[in-house]
Amino acid sequence: MISTPSGPKLPSSIQLLHWLFRPIPFMQQAARHYGDCFTVRLPANPPLVFFSSPEAVKDIFTSDPEKMPAGQTRAIVQPLVGQHSVLVLDGARHAQERKLLMPPFHGERMQAYSTIMADITDQTINRWPVGRAFPMQAEMQEITLNVILRTVFGIEEGAQFSHLRALLIELLSLGTNPLNLIPWFPRLLGPFTNRQRLMQLIGEVDQALYEAISQRRAAGAAGRTDILSMLIEARDEQGQPLTDIELRDELVTMLVAGHETTATSLSWTFHHLLQRPEIVDKLKAELHQVVGADPVQPQHLQKLDYLDAVIKEAQRLTPIVPVVGRYVREPVRIGGRELPAGVVATACIYLTHHHPAVWPQPERFDPDRFLVKRPSPYEFFPFGGGNRYCLGAAFALYEMKIVLARVLSRVTLHAAPGRTVRVVRRGVTFAPSEGMPVVLDRLAA
Ligand code: HEM
Repeated sequence: MISTPSGPKLPSSIQLLHWLFRPIPFMQQAARHYGDCFTVRLPANPPLVFFSSPEAVKDIFTSDPEKMPAGQTRAIVQPLVGQHSVLVLDGARHAQERKLLMPPFHGERMQAYSTIMADITDQTINRWPVGRAFPMQAEMQEITLNVILRTVFGIEEGAQFSHLRALLIELLSLGTNPLNLIPWFPRLLGPFTNRQRLMQLIGEVDQALYEAISQRRAAGAAGRTDILSMLIEARDEQGQPLTDIELRDELVTMLVAGHETTATSLSWTFHHLLQRPEIVDKLKAELHQVVGADPVQPQHLQKLDYLDAVIKEAQRLTPIVPVVGRYVREPVRIGGRELPAGVVATACIYLTHHHPAVWPQPERFDPDRFLVKRPSPYEFFPFGGGNRYCLGAAFALYEMKIVLARVLSRVTLHAAPGRTVRVVRRGVTFAPSEGMPVVLDRLAA
């Protein structure tokens, strides 16, 4: 019989506490002790077999999705995103859904959104106080939420925008707390969870979304560039459109998958930049040379090589999603190790991005490494890989470039003094502690 690779010997409930509250030291200690492959055991979960060598990551991402599906490893978000979401679907239905969703997210399509993204960034910057600390994470979330509402949902500012926005903010704050999503947890921890309110809220959000979908269907999508309009027009190979429930599930999916992720990646990028003024100077020089004094335009973006390298290096050093998993349905060989059925093969983004054999001086923030080396998709994979590669990667990178270019060309920031930023867990993502406080020194028009 094939056994699972060895791993920490602690009881599964203690491993869960480590994984929730000190995930990085927990992974690092396990890697020091067991090497590039070890098994973590959490209560009520299949064993998670962690891998951090590019060879193993390649085996995971190129595996047959029928034999190693991902959807069932994400069951925890199903109450939020719904059963038709591309996140939780597997097999033929997943492949079909991706085909429908992919065209609106194509890199070239993003150009339609640059003005909206830059305007929303400017409106947010204009509110920042001078000389007083404020949390960067919340500001970035403000930007990414408004961008999704305008570009994905296609809702213009006004009463409907404000109503939906308020509902979604509450939904995201309750819905991204894993404790609220596990059905048996409220019975155990009753007062500490808000599952009942969450379920009620999902009903209210659904009503608002169905209203928006029916208005859009009635008005027609002609001349519109938002993603909802494109999805309403999309047809599968049998000529069938997406139903209202499918559209609702995908809208919530994009919100859940795309809002906080992009905001947190931006916050980490600012965090690293604020530690290294010489890198900010180099970045500003590139922006000045390529963009000049005017707002950044789509044609500038592919010329901003250093900005691209800075974002990638921040994603390498502080990836916000630490692991991606595939459920092993039948025995398989990954990175030279035999795995039994019933485990989750876990490509560990964090450990691979910090692997000293792949990345010399891995703890150093050094964007230049991306100018001299083009890493393989198994050495650097902040957006996951294979048939589950992040659908919104081009969207997120595009938005991050616009936001960083606008902020850096308009303001001078420094990290709030006396605070040490640590990695903390926010739902399933790794975020900077205390919302990453910054102070604005100067604001240009
Ligand atoms: C910096 C920001 C982002 C990061 C780091 C990120 C990261 C990821 C990761 C690691 C996965 C899992 C991939 C795997 O299992 O191999 C994923 C999946 C996904 N992401 Fe993103 N994401 C980001 C932004 C976005 C945005 C903006 C959207 C949409 C608006 C989005 C939509 C999705 C969807 C729909 C999936 C599921 C794909 C599937 O299962 O087929 N993401 N993302």
